[in-house]
Parts: sequence; structure tokens; C-alpha cells
Amino acid sequence: MMAHLTRFAVLAFVVIWGSRVSFGDKDIGEEDYYERFQKIPPAIETAKKFYKNFLGGETRRIHKRQILGNFFDVVLVIDSSSSVSSGEFVKGLSALRELVDKSRNDTNYAAITYATRAKIEFDFASSTDVAGKLRALKRSGGKTNTQAALKLCQRMYVEDQYGARPESFRRILLVTDGQSNINRNETIPSAVQLKILGIEVFVIAVGEYLEGIKELVQIASSTDAHMYRVLNLSGLAEMIKLIPDVGQRTWIEETFGKSSEEGEEEAGPLGKL
Ligand SMILES: *[C@@H]1O[C@H](CO)[C@@H](O)[C@H](O)[C@H]1NC(C)=O
Ligand SMILES: *[C@@H]1O[C@H](CO)[C@@H](O)[C@H](O)[C@H]1NC(C)=O
Ligand SMILES: *[C@@H]1O[C@H](CO)[C@@H](O)[C@H](O)[C@H]1NC(C)=O
Repeated sequence: MMAHLTRFAVLAFVVIWGSRVSFGDKDIGEEDYYERFQKIPPAIETAKKFYKNFLGGETRRIHKRQILGNFFDVVLVIDSSSSVSSGEFVKGLSALRELVDKSRNDTNYAAITYATRAKIEFDFASSTDVAGKLRALKRSGGKTNTQAALKLCQRMYVEDQYGARPESFRRILLVTDGQSNINRNETIPSAVQLKILGIEVFVIAVGEYLEGIKELVQIASSTDAHMYRVLNLSGLAEMIKLIPDVGQRTWIEETFGKSSEEGEEEAGPLGKL
């Protein structure tokens, strides 16, 4: 019970914090605000941010983690719609394989692909088994039914049969090139449902200029730590290559900087992968 109360407290914080859009300068319009997310930072900058928030955090003290358990169940959600070419899709998969290799060996991964429909590709499995499973995924082509994928994520976490561990930290990594076009009115509400359950949603938005950037920003758990931009899926691969392997973390922490400053830790995502 204690664990649940604590988790609820954490996620209530995340939801409130994630949904507050601060425009800083009052004169700036909403469209201008979302326009800012069109900018694609250099790969090294994105790699540092992603390492710090998604993989890093070696020195971070997370008190809740001691209550919840110190391991992650991650769902990789991969856009398989027609706007993603087959070549790009394959590059995206190889980038994700490398990401899995670079995460802790007690992190479990599941995968969902989505286009017109969302499909569970595999249930939660240990990171050592995931590379081969990712290699087998096929691009389906079709429309972009993001809400179906998000709802399927929720089922994978709340229903027993998919192998989510009861005490795990839960994260979704959504890789997509644009906004949904099936039941679009359900996309943001589905993301909100996940956040209410304490599931963090990270978004990698792929493409030079994205019409749907606003929706993607709103799906992410926060507009900074959870929101990433790359030009294409080769760019994603390039970014992930820049992230150090587990064994190299010590020197890279010096290069990339410590993952968290005192006092800042409450504002970041929870724990490390
Ligand atoms: C996972 O990594 C730790 C060191 O980080 C190691 O002690 C452990 O044996 C590894 N477990 C497996 C199953 O590879
Ligand atoms: C979305 O629209 C459909 C009808 O087009 C409606 O049935 C459904 O309740 C709406 N969902 C939400 C969350 O507003
Ligand atoms: C993909 O992005 C990289 C930069 O990340 C760029 O150098 C390359 O030209 C892009 N490829 C295509 C086909 O747009």
C-alpha cells in the first residue's frame, strides 16, 4: 500500500509538472511555443540529454526507488506507418538494439509497432533477449494510430500476462515521425492515462519539420527531459552511438558532466535504466 501511495504522489507531481506550459515571455503565442520544438539540436547535445534522462543518473539519489524496486520495464513503441520508409525503419530498429545494449542488464523491454493498428511484437523480456526480437520486426505501412499504441501500452503494464514486474519503474519510448490520424481526439487522453498510472512517456520526434509537433510535445511527460528531436532514423542511430557503453560510464560522466545536481533531482525523470 505504501508503495502505491508513494507512486501516486510521484506521478501526481509529474502530471502537474508535465502539463504546465510556461511560456516564459507572456507575449509569446502558443504556436510560437510549439514552433521551438522544431529545432533539431546537434547529435552530441541530444545524446547528453538522453543519456542523462533516459540511461544515466549513476549518482542520482532516488528515494522512491528504494520503495518501488530498482529496475525498469520499458515499452518501445515504434511508428511503422507509410511515412516511415523501410530503410529508415530498419535503421531505427538497429538504433534501438544499440540502445538496449547500452542499458542495464536488469531492464526488461517489450515492443509495440503501430500504423493503422497497434500490435504487440513481444512481451517484456530481458535486455539480452531483445536484440534478436527487434531484428525480426517488419514495417507494416498504413496510417498513424497513436492512441491505439498508447492504450496497448497501458494494457501491457496493468494486465498480468505481458510480464511487467509489479514493482518496476515504467517507461515508454515512442519513436514517431508525426501526429496521429486515427481517432486523434483520443491520443492526448490516452497519454494522460499513462501518466496518471505513473508511467513516464519519452518521445523521439523524427523529421525535419513536423506538422504534429504539438501533439508529440503533449504526449511526452515533460517538454524537456522527455522530448527529443532527430532529423531521421540514421540521426537517431548516430545519437545513440555517441552514448557510452556501460563499461565506459566513468570517463564519460566526466565528459558529459554529472547526471544530476543536488536539488535538481526532483525535477528529472525517475532513476536510471
Ligand atoms: C548484470 O550486470 C552486473 C554488473 O553490472 C553483473 O554483476 C551481472 O552478473 C549481470 N547479470 C547478467 C544476467 O548478465
Ligand atoms: C472521440 O470521438 C469519438 C467520435 O468521433 C467519440 O465516440 C469519443 O468518445 C471521443 N473520445 C474522446 C476522448 O473525446
Ligand atoms: C539524416 O540525418 C543526418 C544528420 O543526423 C544527415 O546528415 C543525413 O543527411 C540525413 N539523411 C537523409 C536521407 O536525410
